[in-house]
Amino acid sequence: MEALFAERTKWMKASDVRELLKYATDPKIISFGGGLPSPDSFPLKDLKVIFDELLHEETAAAFQYGLTQGDPKLRTALAARMGARGIEASADRTIVTHGSQQAIELMGRVLVEPGDVVITEEPTYLGIFTALATYRPTYHGVPIDSEGLLTDVLEEDLQEMSDQGIRPKFIYVVPTFQNPAGTTMSQRRRRALVDLAAAYGVPIVEDDPYYDLRFEGEAEAPLASYDEEGWVVYLGSFSKVLAPGFRIGWAHGAPDLVNKMSLAKQGVDVFTNAFGQRVAERYLTLGMLDEHLPRIRALYGRKRDVMMAAMEEQFPDGVEWTRPQGGMFLWVSVRPGLDTRDLLPKAAERGVIYVPGHGFFPGTPKVNHMRLNFSFPGEGEIRRGIRILGSVLADEGRPRKGPLAVARG
Ligand SMILES: Cc1ncc(COP(=O)(O)O)c(C=O)c1O
Repeated sequence: MEALFAERTKWMKASDVRELLKYATDPKIISFGGGLPSPDSFPLKDLKVIFDELLHEETAAAFQYGLTQGDPKLRTALAARMGARGIEASADRTIVTHGSQQAIELMGRVLVEPGDVVITEEPTYLGIFTALATYRPTYHGVPIDSEGLLTDVLEEDLQEMSDQGIRPKFIYVVPTFQNPAGTTMSQRRRRALVDLAAAYGVPIVEDDPYYDLRFEGEAEAPLASYDEEGWVVYLGSFSKVLAPGFRIGWAHGAPDLVNKMSLAKQGVDVFTNAFGQRVAERYLTLGMLDEHLPRIRALYGRKRDVMMAAMEEQFPDGVEWTRPQGGMFLWVSVRPGLDTRDLLPKAAERGVIYVPGHGFFPGTPKVNHMRLNFSFPGEGEIRRGIRILGSVLADEGRPRKGPLAVARG
């Protein structure tokens, strides 16, 4: 069959997270690796109420073919939800997608030619690399710190590209509870980023699946709320606040872009699964999501606290980590020179896995980082897993015994 594959399949690769599956099949392994919500966060009672309603009252809407752009009732509810976040949104500029992952893929499909520049944070969500793989962009990474993307660096880079006649296709950012770093972009940088996008005529893709998962501090307004000229494409998802299995996400942006995405989607899957869309719409409009959110936030806030306390106790000196105020991840930096990919089999042997940071870098990876997920493992598992990881890290920090150490004097 190999000889029949299209040229573009050469660019398709499994992400680092998928690679972890070979360890994750062992039920004794504690996984900080996946990006899974806790199954305890799924609103099963609400779902039962909604399912009964749909089966008895809304069979046509829930099971029939529908519009490619998405169920109008859901789009109206989403526009209201975005409005509450300060975004001037409308249903006709919203497209419902199979998860926000599909929205990223559609952005690539309608905008990216091979070699086009796509700017990302460094590190960034690694799903963008699989979503855009066959469109073959050239990635340009801009570093982040605890306040998010370094907009000063971005400005210099945009100017340099502009001098060379290069107009990037878009800037992809996860400004709130970033995956993988857990950091949130400050208001100052958000404004600066939107201003830069307008000044250089480069769209921003604001991927915001964690917005509602804040368990500490004040909400930051989305980039889209500062956008007066229509440069921001805002992506949302029900995966982290309802359940990823429904595959319901959305994109909101300029009308011509949304139209093109809709045309592209028609050829891919005709429309997003109708049942999932009706469930999401009911979950929003019956007020169930807002009632349920405090439970998810409390659950994840507790797990974050357990993980941070365990790291404080168990990790050796020289290891640093971010302190997310929401979301599902934090980012650990071990001493320079230590490669977290080499460390992974040793950690797995003792019963714990994580995602090495390498796969989150658009260019040359920095090898001394790892992403830890705290939403999925139980509190006891978090304590045990961090204790194991701490011992693996401590062993790596110790000078080696034996001939090599002696020879070095
Ligand atoms: C930043 C980011 N974008 C997109 C996705 C994909 O989410 P969805 O399930 O909505 O496709 C994820 C999932 O982990 C994510 O972290």
